[in-house]
Amino acid sequence: MASDDLIDLEPAVADLEAEAVAGLTAARKTLPCKLFYDQRGAELFEAICELPEYYLTRVEASILRTSMDEIVAHIGPQVQLIEPGSGAGTKTRLLLSALEDPVSYVPIDISKEHLRDVAARIRADYPDLEVQAVCADFSQAIPAPPTSRPARRRIVFFPGSTIGNFEADDARAFLGRMADLAGPGGGLLIGFDRAKDPAVLEAAYDDSAGVTAEFNTNALHRLNAEAGADFALEHFEHLARWNPEYQRIEMHLRSLVDQVVHLGAHEITFAAGETIHTECCHKYGPEGVAGLTDRFDVVATWTDPEERFGIQFLEVRAP
Ligand code: AVJ
Repeated sequence: MASDDLIDLEPAVADLEAEAVAGLTAARKTLPCKLFYDQRGAELFEAICELPEYYLTRVEASILRTSMDEIVAHIGPQVQLIEPGSGAGTKTRLLLSALEDPVSYVPIDISKEHLRDVAARIRADYPDLEVQAVCADFSQAIPAPPTSRPARRRIVFFPGSTIGNFEADDARAFLGRMADLAGPGGGLLIGFDRAKDPAVLEAAYDDSAGVTAEFNTNALHRLNAEAGADFALEHFEHLARWNPEYQRIEMHLRSLVDQVVHLGAHEITFAAGETIHTECCHKYGPEGVAGLTDRFDVVATWTDPEERFGIQFLEVRAP
């Protein structure tokens, strides 16, 4: 399945359309948050990371900088570094630059354009590093590509609190796949956002410049462009609210009017005020992701002085 420059495991567009129909015809309407991330969505997310309200990226990078010596001591030399849902690259670069003689970097992303861009930029700046880009949806099992030079262990890097997008059962399944991907002796370096004042959290997901609103609406924009849907984007509004029961921010798109939307052969009816639930962003206590998985042991946990964000290093538990 290797193409010229990336390993292509991308699911067909029809899968997205079928998933969208399934979500929008359910009693409580939902859309999968991976729909956000075409090239435009990836760019909007990069813009979110620069917003004053969105502290997550900056705080996580500051923890990485402060704790990097300890982190690389735990990881060790000559590793294959695997990053599902590779982002803007700042955190990756901090880690790659600090690691001792890394063997390969494996960015995994659903957006081919974004992936090609990330891979090209890393290749340009780390000419001795093997870069093995994989186009995949990280809800599927992904085999680790064999490295040209032997690696001592595989380390999965999953920053950004992206784990928070998963509900508990899906998080457990995902971490299980990551344990399989890392393999015996492998590790996981993972970032998680901490529960805190709901006003701070809601502002982070409903910024005053409206970038997050545009990011959320991009899901509908994509269904219009790629699945022939006819969402009137001006008839939906962005909503971000803290759900204390589930300890998560929820993003929704709320219909402003009674309306009917077409998607493929389906007619989808909205009452005014009805929402499409588009994303969950779970927040965690000091124990981080430890309670979500029995496939890893926590080796170390780092945080910032205000305990806004956490980073953990975990190792694959021996069977
Ligand atoms: C990329 C999943 C980490 O949950 O904070 C940002 C996505 N959504 N603003 C997050 C997101 C709205 C982000 N993750």
